[in-house]
Amino acid sequence: MKTYIVGNWKLNFTVGEASIYLHKILKNLPAYRDVEVVVAPSLLALQPLSLQVDRRKMKLAAQNGFYRDYGAFTGEVSFSQLRGIVDYAIIGHSERRYVFREDDKMIAKKVEAAVRNRITPILCIGETESERAFGETSDVIRDQLMGGLRDVSDDDLDKVIIAYEPVWAISSTKASKLATPDEISEVVKLIKKNLTEIYGAKLADEVPILFGGSVNPSNAGAYLTVPGVNGLLIGGASLILSEFIDIIDTAKRVRS
Ligand code: 13P
Repeated sequence: MKTYIVGNWKLNFTVGEASIYLHKILKNLPAYRDVEVVVAPSLLALQPLSLQVDRRKMKLAAQNGFYRDYGAFTGEVSFSQLRGIVDYAIIGHSERRYVFREDDKMIAKKVEAAVRNRITPILCIGETESERAFGETSDVIRDQLMGGLRDVSDDDLDKVIIAYEPVWAISSTKASKLATPDEISEVVKLIKKNLTEIYGAKLADEVPILFGGSVNPSNAGAYLTVPGVNGLLIGGASLILSEFIDIIDTAKRVRS
Protein backbone atom coordinates (compact mmCIF):
# COMPACT_ATOMS: atom_id res chain seq x y z
CA MET A 1 0.00 0.00 0.00
CA LYS A 2 1.15 3.55 -0.71
CA THR A 3 1.86 6.04 2.05
CA TYR A 4 -0.42 9.07 1.79
CA ILE A 5 0.74 12.55 2.72
CA VAL A 6 -2.22 14.90 2.45
CA GLY A 7 -1.96 18.64 3.06
CA ASN A 8 -5.23 20.30 4.02
CA TRP A 9 -4.77 24.01 3.34
CA LYS A 10 -8.16 24.84 4.91
CA LEU A 11 -9.14 28.52 4.44
CA ASN A 12 -5.68 29.81 3.55
CA PHE A 13 -4.02 31.37 0.48
CA THR A 14 -5.52 33.46 -2.30
CA VAL A 15 -5.60 31.77 -5.71
CA GLY A 16 -2.36 33.57 -6.61
CA GLU A 17 -0.63 32.57 -3.38
CA ALA A 18 -1.80 28.97 -3.78
CA SER A 19 -0.39 28.85 -7.29
CA ILE A 20 3.00 30.18 -6.18
CA TYR A 21 3.11 27.77 -3.26
CA LEU A 22 2.19 24.82 -5.46
CA HIS A 23 4.96 25.80 -7.85
CA LYS A 24 7.47 25.81 -4.97
CA ILE A 25 6.35 22.40 -3.70
CA LEU A 26 6.58 20.87 -7.17
CA LYS A 27 10.06 22.30 -7.62
CA ASN A 28 11.25 20.67 -4.40
CA LEU A 29 9.50 17.34 -4.81
CA PRO A 30 10.81 14.31 -6.64
CA ALA A 31 8.20 11.91 -8.06
CA TYR A 32 7.96 9.21 -5.37
CA ARG A 33 6.19 6.08 -6.55
CA ASP A 34 5.26 4.79 -3.10
CA VAL A 35 4.35 8.11 -1.47
CA GLU A 36 1.13 9.68 -2.71
CA VAL A 37 1.33 13.42 -2.08
CA VAL A 38 -1.99 15.24 -2.12
CA VAL A 39 -2.90 18.86 -1.38
CA ALA A 40 -6.36 20.27 -0.71
CA PRO A 41 -6.47 23.97 -1.63
CA SER A 42 -9.61 26.12 -1.32
CA LEU A 43 -12.35 25.31 -3.78
CA LEU A 44 -11.70 28.49 -5.73
CA ALA A 45 -8.09 27.55 -6.44
CA LEU A 46 -8.78 23.97 -7.52
CA GLN A 47 -9.57 24.57 -11.17
CA PRO A 48 -6.51 26.73 -11.99
CA LEU A 49 -4.25 24.50 -9.88
CA SER A 50 -5.52 21.43 -11.72
CA LEU A 51 -4.00 22.88 -14.88
CA GLN A 52 -0.73 23.60 -13.11
CA VAL A 53 -0.18 20.45 -11.06
CA ASP A 54 2.14 17.69 -12.23
CA ARG A 55 0.00 14.65 -11.42
CA ARG A 56 3.00 12.34 -11.46
CA LYS A 57 4.23 14.17 -8.36
CA MET A 58 1.08 15.28 -6.66
CA LYS A 59 -2.70 15.01 -6.70
CA LEU A 60 -5.39 17.47 -5.70
CA ALA A 61 -8.19 17.05 -3.18
CA ALA A 62 -11.31 19.08 -2.52
CA GLN A 63 -11.97 20.04 1.09
CA ASN A 64 -15.68 19.46 0.61
CA GLY A 65 -18.31 18.90 -2.04
CA PHE A 66 -22.09 18.54 -2.30
CA TYR A 67 -23.85 15.23 -2.80
CA ARG A 68 -26.43 16.27 -5.39
CA ASP A 69 -25.06 16.66 -8.92
CA TYR A 70 -27.06 19.77 -9.87
CA GLY A 71 -30.17 21.71 -8.91
CA ALA A 72 -31.39 24.45 -6.60
CA PHE A 73 -28.56 24.33 -4.03
CA THR A 74 -27.24 27.88 -3.83
CA GLY A 75 -23.59 28.14 -2.99
CA GLU A 76 -22.73 24.47 -3.39
CA VAL A 77 -20.30 22.70 -5.72
CA SER A 78 -21.02 19.10 -6.64
CA PHE A 79 -18.70 16.15 -6.90
CA SER A 80 -19.80 15.81 -10.51
CA GLN A 81 -18.44 19.34 -11.10
CA LEU A 82 -15.22 18.39 -9.30
CA ARG A 83 -14.77 15.24 -11.36
CA GLY A 84 -11.63 15.44 -13.46
CA ILE A 85 -10.31 18.35 -11.37
CA VAL A 86 -9.55 16.44 -8.18
CA ASP A 87 -8.67 12.83 -7.39
CA TYR A 88 -9.59 13.01 -3.71
CA ALA A 89 -12.06 14.79 -1.44
CA ILE A 90 -11.85 15.33 2.31
CA ILE A 91 -15.29 14.52 3.72
CA GLY A 92 -16.61 14.87 7.25
CA HIS A 93 -13.71 16.92 8.58
CA SER A 94 -14.39 17.92 12.18
CA GLU A 95 -14.59 21.57 11.11
CA ARG A 96 -17.42 20.58 8.73
CA ARG A 97 -19.07 18.56 11.49
CA TYR A 98 -18.86 21.15 14.25
CA VAL A 99 -18.75 24.54 12.49
CA PHE A 100 -21.12 23.66 9.64
CA ARG A 101 -23.22 21.07 11.49
CA GLU A 102 -22.77 18.23 9.03
CA ASP A 103 -24.11 14.99 10.41
CA ASP A 104 -23.33 11.37 9.55
CA LYS A 105 -26.34 11.21 7.20
CA MET A 106 -25.09 14.09 5.09
CA ILE A 107 -21.53 12.81 5.26
CA ALA A 108 -22.68 9.37 4.02
CA LYS A 109 -24.34 11.00 1.00
CA LYS A 110 -21.18 12.94 0.24
CA VAL A 111 -19.04 9.80 0.48
CA GLU A 112 -21.41 8.00 -1.89
CA ALA A 113 -21.45 10.94 -4.35
CA ALA A 114 -17.66 11.16 -4.35
CA VAL A 115 -17.27 7.44 -5.08
CA ARG A 116 -19.95 7.65 -7.80
CA ASN A 117 -17.94 10.44 -9.43
CA ARG A 118 -14.63 8.56 -9.21
CA ILE A 119 -13.24 10.82 -6.50
CA THR A 120 -11.67 9.04 -3.54
CA PRO A 121 -13.29 10.22 -0.31
CA ILE A 122 -11.00 10.74 2.68
CA LEU A 123 -13.57 10.19 5.42
CA CYS A 124 -12.51 11.97 8.62
CA ILE A 125 -13.59 10.63 11.96
CA GLY A 126 -12.53 11.43 15.50
CA GLU A 127 -13.73 12.05 19.01
CA THR A 128 -13.81 15.36 20.87
CA GLU A 129 -11.98 15.96 24.12
CA SER A 130 -15.09 15.47 26.25
CA GLU A 131 -16.15 12.34 24.37
CA ARG A 132 -12.74 10.87 25.16
CA ALA A 133 -12.97 11.98 28.79
CA PHE A 134 -16.37 10.26 29.13
CA GLY A 135 -15.04 7.02 27.64
CA GLU A 136 -17.10 7.39 24.48
CA THR A 137 -14.27 7.17 21.96
CA SER A 138 -15.07 3.70 20.64
CA ASP A 139 -18.78 4.49 20.24
CA VAL A 140 -18.02 7.74 18.40
CA ILE A 141 -15.53 6.03 16.11
CA ARG A 142 -17.98 3.25 15.31
CA ASP A 143 -20.90 5.62 14.71
CA GLN A 144 -18.93 8.00 12.50
CA LEU A 145 -17.29 5.18 10.57
CA MET A 146 -20.42 3.13 9.98
CA GLY A 147 -22.53 6.26 9.49
CA GLY A 148 -20.17 7.67 6.88
CA LEU A 149 -19.77 4.38 5.02
CA ARG A 150 -23.49 3.55 5.08
CA ASP A 151 -23.82 3.59 1.29
CA VAL A 152 -20.43 2.10 0.42
CA SER A 153 -20.78 -1.43 -0.94
CA ASP A 154 -18.18 -4.19 -0.62
CA ASP A 155 -17.15 -3.49 -4.21
CA ASP A 156 -16.47 0.17 -3.47
CA LEU A 157 -14.62 -0.14 -0.17
CA ASP A 158 -11.28 -0.09 -1.97
CA LYS A 159 -12.13 3.43 -3.20
CA VAL A 160 -12.25 4.89 0.31
CA ILE A 161 -9.63 6.29 2.71
CA ILE A 162 -10.25 6.80 6.43
CA ALA A 163 -8.55 9.59 8.38
CA TYR A 164 -8.50 9.45 12.17
CA GLU A 165 -8.35 13.00 13.46
CA PRO A 166 -9.01 13.32 17.19
CA VAL A 167 -10.63 16.74 17.46
CA TRP A 168 -8.68 17.56 20.62
CA ALA A 169 -5.35 17.06 18.82
CA ILE A 170 -6.06 19.38 15.89
CA SER A 171 -4.12 22.69 15.74
CA SER A 172 -2.57 22.01 19.11
CA THR A 173 0.48 23.79 20.42
CA LYS A 174 0.63 22.04 23.79
CA ALA A 175 2.48 18.75 24.10
CA SER A 176 -0.28 17.44 26.38
CA LYS A 177 -2.74 17.86 23.52
CA LEU A 178 -0.78 15.78 21.06
CA ALA A 179 -1.97 12.26 20.38
CA THR A 180 0.54 9.62 21.44
CA PRO A 181 1.40 6.71 19.15
CA ASP A 182 -0.31 4.38 21.66
CA GLU A 183 -3.53 6.38 21.61
CA ILE A 184 -3.51 6.36 17.82
CA SER A 185 -2.71 2.66 17.67
CA GLU A 186 -5.69 1.85 19.88
CA VAL A 187 -8.12 3.74 17.66
CA VAL A 188 -6.62 2.37 14.44
CA LYS A 189 -7.29 -1.12 15.83
CA LEU A 190 -10.87 -0.10 16.56
CA ILE A 191 -11.31 1.20 13.01
CA LYS A 192 -9.97 -2.05 11.58
CA LYS A 193 -12.19 -4.10 13.87
CA ASN A 194 -15.29 -2.19 12.80
CA LEU A 195 -14.39 -2.41 9.12
CA THR A 196 -13.75 -6.12 9.49
CA GLU A 197 -17.11 -6.70 11.13
CA ILE A 198 -18.93 -5.12 8.23
CA TYR A 199 -16.78 -5.94 5.22
CA GLY A 200 -14.63 -8.89 6.30
CA ALA A 201 -10.90 -8.92 7.02
CA LYS A 202 -9.71 -9.12 3.42
CA LEU A 203 -11.49 -5.96 2.28
CA ALA A 204 -10.90 -4.15 5.57
CA ASP A 205 -7.15 -4.67 5.32
CA GLU A 206 -7.02 -2.79 2.02
CA VAL A 207 -8.44 0.47 3.44
CA PRO A 208 -5.73 3.07 4.05
CA ILE A 209 -5.95 4.74 7.46
CA LEU A 210 -4.38 8.17 7.90
CA PHE A 211 -3.69 10.08 11.08
CA GLY A 212 -4.17 13.83 11.47
CA GLY A 213 -3.76 16.26 14.35
CA SER A 214 -0.84 18.66 14.76
CA VAL A 215 1.49 16.58 12.63
CA ASN A 216 4.86 18.28 12.19
CA PRO A 217 8.36 17.27 11.07
CA SER A 218 9.34 16.16 14.58
CA ASN A 219 6.43 13.80 15.21
CA ALA A 220 5.72 12.59 11.64
CA GLY A 221 8.19 9.69 11.85
CA ALA A 222 6.69 8.36 15.08
CA TYR A 223 3.14 8.64 13.74
CA LEU A 224 4.01 6.95 10.46
CA THR A 225 5.46 3.96 12.30
CA VAL A 226 2.28 3.31 14.30
CA PRO A 227 1.11 -0.12 13.09
CA GLY A 228 -1.82 0.29 10.71
CA VAL A 229 -1.18 3.96 9.91
CA ASN A 230 -0.77 4.44 6.18
CA GLY A 231 -0.30 8.18 6.00
CA LEU A 232 -0.89 11.62 7.45
CA LEU A 233 -3.43 14.40 7.06
CA ILE A 234 -1.68 17.66 7.80
CA GLY A 235 -3.06 21.14 8.40
CA GLY A 236 -0.72 23.86 9.67
CA ALA A 237 2.58 22.21 8.71
CA SER A 238 1.39 21.72 5.13
CA LEU A 239 1.34 25.51 4.71
CA ILE A 240 5.08 25.77 5.38
CA LEU A 241 7.17 24.58 2.46
CA SER A 242 10.16 23.28 4.43
CA GLU A 243 7.94 21.42 6.92
CA PHE A 244 5.72 19.85 4.29
CA ILE A 245 8.72 18.67 2.24
CA ASP A 246 10.40 17.39 5.40
CA ILE A 247 7.32 15.30 6.27
CA ILE A 248 7.18 13.89 2.73
CA ASP A 249 10.88 12.98 2.95
CA THR A 250 10.22 11.31 6.31
CA ALA A 251 7.45 9.25 4.72
CA LYS A 252 9.84 8.16 2.01
CA ARG A 253 12.52 7.28 4.57
CA VAL A 254 10.17 5.37 6.86
CA ARG A 255 9.02 3.23 3.92
CA SER A 256 12.43 2.29 2.64
P1 13P B 1 -3.32 20.57 12.06
O1 13P B 1 -2.26 19.73 11.43
O2 13P B 1 -3.14 22.04 11.84
O3 13P B 1 -3.56 20.20 13.48
O4 13P B 1 -4.69 20.22 11.28
C1 13P B 1 -5.08 18.91 11.19
C2 13P B 1 -6.24 18.84 10.29
O5 13P B 1 -7.33 19.21 10.66
C3 13P B 1 -6.01 18.33 8.93
O6 13P B 1 -7.20 18.06 8.28
